[in-house]
Amino acid sequence: MNARELKNKYIEFFVSKGHVEIPSASLVPENDPTTLFISAGMHPLVPYLLGQPHPLGKRITDVQKSVRTGDIDEVGDTYHHTFFEMLGNWSLGDYFKKEAIEFSYEFLTKVLSINPNNLFATYFAGNETAPKDDLSASVWKSLNIPDDRVVPLTDNWWGPAGATGPCGPDSEMFVDTRPELPPVDFKTGDKQGRYLEIWNDVFMEYNKKTDNSYQKLSQQNVDTGMGVERTVAVLNGFADDYLTSIWQPIIKKIEELSKMDYGIESDDFYIKDDKQCWVDVRKSMRIIADHIRSAVFIIADDVEPANKEAGYVLRRLIRRSIRQGKLIGINTNFCSTIGQSVLGNQDNYAGIYPELDQNKEKILSILDNEENKFRKTLDRGLTEINKLITRQHNVSGKEAFDLYQSYGFPVEMVEEELSKNKLTLDKDEFLKYKDEHQKLSQTLSSGKFKSGLADQSEIITKYHTATHLLHASLRKILGTHVQQSGSNITSERLRFDFSHPEKLTDDQLKQVETMVNEQINRDLKITCDTLPFIESQKQGALAFFGSKYPETVTMYTMGDFSKEVCTGPHVEHTSTLGKFKIQKEESASAGKRRIYAVLE
Ligand code: ALA
Repeated sequence: MNARELKNKYIEFFVSKGHVEIPSASLVPENDPTTLFISAGMHPLVPYLLGQPHPLGKRITDVQKSVRTGDIDEVGDTYHHTFFEMLGNWSLGDYFKKEAIEFSYEFLTKVLSINPNNLFATYFAGNETAPKDDLSASVWKSLNIPDDRVVPLTDNWWGPAGATGPCGPDSEMFVDTRPELPPVDFKTGDKQGRYLEIWNDVFMEYNKKTDNSYQKLSQQNVDTGMGVERTVAVLNGFADDYLTSIWQPIIKKIEELSKMDYGIESDDFYIKDDKQCWVDVRKSMRIIADHIRSAVFIIADDVEPANKEAGYVLRRLIRRSIRQGKLIGINTNFCSTIGQSVLGNQDNYAGIYPELDQNKEKILSILDNEENKFRKTLDRGLTEINKLITRQHNVSGKEAFDLYQSYGFPVEMVEEELSKNKLTLDKDEFLKYKDEHQKLSQTLSSGKFKSGLADQSEIITKYHTATHLLHASLRKILGTHVQQSGSNITSERLRFDFSHPEKLTDDQLKQVETMVNEQINRDLKITCDTLPFIESQKQGALAFFGSKYPETVTMYTMGDFSKEVCTGPHVEHTSTLGKFKIQKEESASAGKRRIYAVLE
């Protein structure tokens, strides 16, 4: 079974159980400054898990694009990926543990034909926050999973996705990929990658607050997640995800460019540039395939390489790929060629994600431009290093860190240059500077990203409403080419990105500010309607161009001034907003402007 078939079967199954399919949300979270990317299927559904009614009802299913940057250093093994697709089904205050587990069991054994004797089901063993989950254990046992394969674990807890929000105990399902061998103890045995997790049912009945306390939610939800890449590998009997048809066209392209073979075992030996290197060819190929696939999807969701936040993650993914390319002998531009093989993967993506088809040219040219830039950077860095070596016969850890900081120059390459001259780098000193820098940026971001989607406090809601007024005002003053390209709200300010070719004049900024304040003073009433997406468009509601919307949506109307398709929430009357003040206007990226504004 390939990825396309798995995704279709999953959605069909849950639709037959009364769920409504929704399209994947963008990888860039809307109004959630606690995280840079959507990292799970539940993430865009947070407001509904907290109790806001979903316009399509209480049973939802989808395939959600996700990015997990926390795993970036693990990529290169058989199963960690930065970007991946996650299948999920949700009960928003509807069914709970019994039905969720029964659905999982039926899908695994009847639709995917997995032998129930090869399954393990784990459940939450209990701690000071929540009791042992005896109910899940008894449901699994009632479904004929042998008692010794229903295992209590203390870390079976999932969430929240950001700093705060819905979370709860979970039940993770594993498949034994070598059932012919004698079993090993699930908790203590050396499993050697034999039991693979393919699905997670999370019973979300808690809300983690900013003070780290847990509060019971007003409703009991189910959130599940099945990774497409892993499941396809298991269903096809592969221990390595990259052997499936999801990855093989990409790997083949890398083999062609590097003239190396993915089949080569780790630590194979080869000679390059008169220098003898040990290179893990498979690992390099996996990293390139993973990182360029992630970059393609991230660019398609309107992120461009930059020196901070999501743009920085994108830049790192591309740079790390180029570095791995060098290791396996690819020394000319290749990222856009690999990008093309991601875009053209008939088995999985082609024709499924409209944002890939619509942004094809842009994706390829961003990959190419970024690669040109980084190759120049590498050349400059090499010149600097060689100057240092000639002058002082060494490069200190601090100097290596400066090169890394200012040129993005990989430390391994500093080491390589030094070793050519029979010198070694003080790696500890380098790491000391790197750690200090990381700690500083973590402290800065933890201060900055205090609240997220789960924070539906009054002030966040007000900023959300102000964002709609700002959007409509910009369109009335600058023209209808203005389209929202990003929004980021904290309890201190709003930040709004939009398409516009040039810097706004002081006069334009004044006009925008005045127009927003006029709407606040007119005390417009805000109404919310649930209606078919097509109807919302007939009524002129703004929606993100190029995004897929569900058939039924919620539309917020602010008097006669603004209409937008949006999940909310918003205030009821604009006069509660106070005074709107623009603090700063700047470039966000090519053709995009950014406004910071506050409510006083
Ligand atoms: N949100 C859960 C996960 O990502 C299902 O594992």
